[in-house]
Amino acid sequence: MAERTLIIVKPDAVKRNLVGEILSRFKKKGFTISKQKMLNFTTEMAKEFYSAHSSKPFFDELVSFITSGDVVAAIIERDNAVSLTREIIGNTNPKEASAGTIRGDFGISITENSIHASDSSESFDKEVNVVFQ
Ligand code: CMP
Repeated sequence: MAERTLIIVKPDAVKRNLVGEILSRFKKKGFTISKQKMLNFTTEMAKEFYSAHSSKPFFDELVSFITSGDVVAAIIERDNAVSLTREIIGNTNPKEASAGTIRGDFGISITENSIHASDSSESFDKEVNVVFQ
């Protein structure tokens, strides 16, 4: 059954004109893009979006980076979308991500790691509400 997930192409990748390349990887894997938009997160949106990480030492850096420039958010759809998307994006830390994954190929650092994806359908519901009100 078709499932939806949310991806955010982060400011480091948008600045390097990687949006087309990144979205095409999902299309080639059979995903359809049901909604897409470019936006710049406000601090308030970023704090809500990443609220699960609010007690982490890297929270301020995370909020400051995601608000630093335009991002492209997309709702993408296919069967097993959440888990397949996590495979396609790779390990959170680009240094540990395999070649052929988006973070392995394009990520610069654990903060500038090019892409975010929902880690569960519960996270998807919450994140979509922040990005596509
Ligand atoms: P993302 O998938 O957007 O979800 C949370 C983000 O926190 C993650 O990508 C990383 O960019 C960031 N992150 C996770 N762990 C660390 C860490 N140890 N140091 C700095 N940033 C981190």
